[in-house]
Amino acid sequence: MTIVYLVGFMGSGKSTIAKRLSQLWNETYADTDQEIERMYEKKIPDIFIEQGESAFRDYESKVLKNLNEPIIATGGGIVERKENIEWMKQNGTIIYLYASFHEISKRLKDDMNRPLWGHSLEKRKILYKKRQAMYEACADITVDTDEKDVETVIQDIMECL
Ligand code: S3P
Repeated sequence: MTIVYLVGFMGSGKSTIAKRLSQLWNETYADTDQEIERMYEKKIPDIFIEQGESAFRDYESKVLKNLNEPIIATGGGIVERKENIEWMKQNGTIIYLYASFHEISKRLKDDMNRPLWGHSLEKRKILYKKRQAMYEACADITVDTDEKDVETVIQDIMECL
């Protein structure tokens, strides 16, 4: 079995779906954000504050390449580095969990554990638009998660695989 990589904007449900898929398939899963926090013994917002985004991206790329679990939930910015997209393409199937900006805003509200979600509505919109194009460009499969519960999203994924 090749690796299933879940990509998508913050709040698109990557970690939740990875966990559920792992239960259903009786397989292990990994989450790049959790792995970064475990390996570097720091919370993600602290890495951003103390070392900056570029250092975080270095950690993220390193972690991605060290994971071999059959299901991997990635951080929303995994697509920021071309090498990561190439790696995922070579090693598995990329599933884009789409959620509209409206839906993401409802889910995240003002979540301060996500440094790039920030305070400014304008910046949020710009990042969302930029990322949407990046996810679309690399996805093998796109699943719309808007107003869908976990089981429906899982069903949609299964139909596409
Ligand atoms: C980020 C998304 C976050 C986390 C970090 C950066 C991004 O992961 O990796 O805060 O650049 O979109 P989630 O997508 O799990 O929130």
